[in-house]
Parts: sequence; structure tokens; C-alpha cells
Amino acid sequence: MNQEQAKERIEYLKKALLEHNRRYYVLSDPGISDFEYDLLMMELETLENKFPQYKTLDSPSQKVGSDLSTSAVQSGFLQARHQYPMLSLGNTYSESELDDFDARIQKGLSEPYQYVCELKFDGLSISLRYHKGVLQQALTRGDGEKGDIVTENVKRIHGIPHQLKGHFPDDIEVRGEILMPYSSFERLNLEREDVGDSTFANPRNAASGSLKLLDANEVAKRGLTCFIYGVVGDQLPYSSHYEALEAVKSYGFQVFEYIKVCDYIDQVHAFLRHWDTERKKLEFATDGVVIKINRFDQQKAMGFTAKSPRWAIAYKFKAEQALTPLVSVDFQVGRTGAITPVANLKPVSLAGTTVKRASLHNADQMALLDIRLGDYVYVEKGGEIIPKIVGVELSKRSAASQVLQYIDKCPECGTPLIRPEGEAKHYCPNENGCFPQRVGKVVHFISRKAMNIEGLGDETVELLFREQFIENAADLYVLKEDQLAGLERMGEKSARNLVQAIEQSKSVPFARVLFALGIRYVGETTAKKLAAHFKNLDDLAHSDFDSLCAVEEVGPQIANSILNYFADQKNNVILERLRQVGIQFVQEKGPDQLSDRLSGKSFLISGTFRNISREQLKELIVAHGGKNLAAPSANLDFFLAGDKVGPSKLQKVEKLGISIISEDEFFRMIE
Ligand code: IVH
Repeated sequence: MNQEQAKERIEYLKKALLEHNRRYYVLSDPGISDFEYDLLMMELETLENKFPQYKTLDSPSQKVGSDLSTSAVQSGFLQARHQYPMLSLGNTYSESELDDFDARIQKGLSEPYQYVCELKFDGLSISLRYHKGVLQQALTRGDGEKGDIVTENVKRIHGIPHQLKGHFPDDIEVRGEILMPYSSFERLNLEREDVGDSTFANPRNAASGSLKLLDANEVAKRGLTCFIYGVVGDQLPYSSHYEALEAVKSYGFQVFEYIKVCDYIDQVHAFLRHWDTERKKLEFATDGVVIKINRFDQQKAMGFTAKSPRWAIAYKFKAEQALTPLVSVDFQVGRTGAITPVANLKPVSLAGTTVKRASLHNADQMALLDIRLGDYVYVEKGGEIIPKIVGVELSKRSAASQVLQYIDKCPECGTPLIRPEGEAKHYCPNENGCFPQRVGKVVHFISRKAMNIEGLGDETVELLFREQFIENAADLYVLKEDQLAGLERMGEKSARNLVQAIEQSKSVPFARVLFALGIRYVGETTAKKLAAHFKNLDDLAHSDFDSLCAVEEVGPQIANSILNYFADQKNNVILERLRQVGIQFVQEKGPDQLSDRLSGKSFLISGTFRNISREQLKELIVAHGGKNLAAPSANLDFFLAGDKVGPSKLQKVEKLGISIISEDEFFRMIE
């Protein structure tokens, strides 16, 4: 490679890596796998070393990736400076490079030393400052120099004490990783699917999206957890990393139990091999092992490079990959009209399952991969549940291969697709005519947080459409028991229950009805604000742009969407029929109804409480629109724990990833 080519390639790599950083840290939606990212970074570092004249201070090789939101106004978080910068770690995928690392340490220290091996948790890092045992401030890594202040959110995360116990120093800053266990991740995605929200690709993205939520109550529901992996400070009362971890454990922090102190590098290799397979049994995602010098004085002697310590390294596990030909690409139309390209692959076995299909995400992703029919593609199952295509084996590409064209018309209804500004996906705009979208509207209408009609799954809704029993949500209210009983997989009893559930939905409060209508961009919270503001459907339907924008949380995009919805005659016909069957179009507050703060949320009460009896608590939950459940289940949102809660019950809820809240936290929710 000559100078000119190197310069060009370096520029390209810098730009690409910066964009990948933004997608990973800011958007929580990475475009490539960690492995591919590391390869690009390695290539950049190698070229910069060979052509140092093109190495600049703003290169991604010199800085840690930033998760900082661009502005506090946009993100809702203020920022603060880290007392000690939050650096990243040098990493390797090869055991022989680990030996090179060990050789550098040997040379640097020339005295005996120990390593501590820990798992590398795949979440997002957090810095927690305590004064006299009380949590003062929680900061995200940000750009390493300053981070977003997320203290209130962090207070709702399992494993992070508000108050330390035992003998702790007056001032202490600990660092750790916030994670979303697989069980919470799956529950969250199911819930999001249920209400038509986009799902998270993996637990890391879900954890980082959850930590940046503006409502701490919502964060509490996400089932996050935190492992502490370090303490920072100049005058720590410990002499080694291991001692520090033992100490913080005694203060009440959660430290992962399998940590190994090693006297020899061979023990480190053994640890890596053991955990490469063993980690698959864990409840949360890990992507490697972090190897650190144990003694603090020796860490200090080794020092730091611009972005990482010389006394530590991350050994990354390689995700299992398979190579297989791409047979064809389908374009699926989702319930919201979003188009997803899906690759059909020649079946291949990968990490214990046979993979036949993989998501290609969107047009940009396909272009980035430059994927062509007949190409051999690498599929990978990382932290993700759905396998993805991470690369193309160019050496196996046929000379005749042709670039794949993205579609410009909806494969279901033929309507030209649109791509809204700033969005990665294409959409079919034919909301009321396109089959999957019409089904989607009814699926959303009946979902738990909307009309909550149980006994009607997505497939049955589709069947009702196909049998021409329904054309829209209003038709549900004229369905007859005997008509339903004849349907596939529907007996007499289920038909009766379903008709009953449909009937019961007539008492669902106005705010949830509004959410159920599925007006684009009107989510649960906006629906509540609109209902509280307009009090009835007619006033909302006759409002104008300015009065809509005057409602909290409503901006021009939502206002326009509402105006468009009511301007469409088809919608008005459906609304009129819903009104006639008795759906609540008026905000009602009965004498016992205090608020709808807890609407759609379920609680399980356990233990004894200081200020209130259990019965009173149950009444309060109902009075604020919530539901009481009798036993832990995957549908449970909050476990309201008093004193003397049985350990087995607690263990069960923890396992289900359900948020555990105290009496005080509950009162804050309904304040
Ligand atoms: S120690 C100077 N230990 O990995 C950095 N980091 O690539 C010291 N991570 O930002 C970090 N598990 O978010 C350390 N056991 C562990 C870790 C860990 C996950 C993350 C952390 C850090 C990133 C560095």
C-alpha cells in the first residue's frame, strides 16, 4: 500500500469507526458485530503505526467510544465530569497475544506478580460515587471524561445499594457493569411486541436503552442488574484489586462470585477455556475475560496509554460463526408497516441449532455488506437471540453475481414505500389497506396495555380477517359465540370466554382506548396526557394543531399524526361504531378512582408494611388503576416487598427479573 492509499484507507476507517461508535453507544443499535468492529480498529491501528503522519488526536484509535447524548435538552440528562477518567481496555481474541501481554508485564515489573481473572460482562459501564455510605451520583461512561447523570435511574437497579453497610471509607467511587439478564430481555421484547414497539436486538442494547429512560419507574420495571468490577481512587485503603472487590462485596455491592487470582499465565489460559463454554449457562451475556494485575502499586508502575491501562487486557470470546450460501431474500411487512429484509440461507448448524433465516435489518445494512444472491455469508449468534449475517466471503463470490436491489413497492399491497427522514427502515404507508397492517391494528387494539382482550392471539386475529369475520376493531364487538366456536383451535368454552372478554373491554378507561386506536406516535404515555387534557374523544377530534401542541409531550409530529387520523373518514366510521357499542370515549373518574398512574401495571404484595396494611395497599393499587396478582408470574410488573418476605418467593421473583420495590418507592409512584 502506498502513502496515498494508506491515507485514503485511514480516512475511511476513521469515519466508519466513528459512525459505528455512534450507533453502538448513542443509538444502542450497532450495525456490525464486536468482532468486525475490532478488526476495523486493528486495521486502523496497524496503518497508523506504519504511517504515523496520518495519525491524529481525534482518531477513534485514540479515544474511547462515547455514549454521551448530544445535548441535555435532547436526552433529558445533565452531564458531569468524571473524577477519574473512564477508560477502555485493550483487547485480543488470541491466546498467543495474551502471552505477548504477559511478556510486556514481566519486562515492565521485573518482580513476581499475580493476575486477577474476571468475566467481561456485556452491558454498559457505570460509575457510582458514595459519601458517608450514601449514593451521591451515578455517571455513565460518556466519552470517558464526562458522562450522563443517571442517579435516579440507577437507584432503581438491583445490586446497587442506596446505603452502604459495614465499614466503608467516607468517600468511595466504584465502577461496574449494568446488565439485562436474558429473562428480563425476553420479557421486555415480548411486551414491546405486544404493544407494537420495536424490539431490542440484544440484552446490551436493551440495558443501555433502559438506563437512558426518562422515567425511573420504567427503569425499575426493566429488571436490570449490576456487577461491580472495580474501585477507583488515589488513596484507597486496599492494596490489591482482589482485596478491593472483597471489601465492596461486604459493603453490599454485587460482585460476581467466580473471580480467580492466578500466579501463572497458564492458570489464566485455563480460566479462559473453562469460561468460553461455561458462560453459556449464565443468566446474562458475557463477551470475554478481563485479566488485571492484582497489586495496586504494580498497576501504578505499569500505567496507562491514551485510552486504556497497560496493566489489564480483555480476552474476547469469539462468537460462533458458520459459512453458508444466501439463497434468497424476503421482504416482510410488519404490523406497523415497517419493511424487514430477511435472508433465506442454506440450512447450517450453529451453536446447537439449525439456522435457515437471518435478519438483514434494512437497506443500509444490506448495502454495507454488499450482499448478493449466491454469496457465501457468515452467520453469527452472539449475545443476540436471532442470528445475523456479519460478513460475506468475497473469495467465494461468483463473477456473475449481481447487486441486490432493495424493493420500492410493498410486497403485500404494491403501494410505493417511503423512508421517513432519520429512520433506517422503509415503510408501507397504506395503513388501512395493507393486510398485515390491518391485522396489526387489531392486534394492537386488543393488547394488554390497550383493551386487554384475553383469549385472542395474533394468529386468531389473522384468521378472523381471512374468514372475513372482521375488517377492523369495531367488528370484534359483533362477533357471536357460535360463529367463533367453529374456528380452528377454538372450542365452545374459549369462544364464550372470548365474547365475554370483548364485552368486558367496554369498561376500559378512555386513556387506554385512545392508546388502543393505534394513532401513529401516540404511545401509552401520550394517550394518558391527551385523555387528561381533552377529557373526551370529541374534543380531541375537533382540536387544532396549536391546542394539540399545548399538551405536554405532544410536538408537531404527534399533532400532525392526530390531525391526519381524524381527517380520515374511514377512521371516523370505525370510531362511530365503537361509540355505539359502548366503548369509553369520555375520561371518567369514579369516586373510588384516584388516578390512572398504575394503569396496565400489576403488583404482588408480600411481607409486612410499616405505614399501611396489606389490604389497604391492595385497594390503593386498584384505586390508581393497577391490578393485584396472587402469585409471581412472567406477567408481573412489580413485587412490592415489605419486611419478612420469604426468601424462596424473593428468589423466584428475582429469577423472573421482576422489579422489586419498597413501600416508599411504591408511594413515590402514586405521589
Ligand atoms: S475493568 C480501565 N472489568 O469493558 C477499564 N471492565 O472495554 C477498566 N467491562 O468500559 C475496566 N466487564 O464497561 C473491567 N470485569 C470487568 C468488566 C469490564 C465488563 C467493560 C467495562 C469497560 C469495558 C472496557
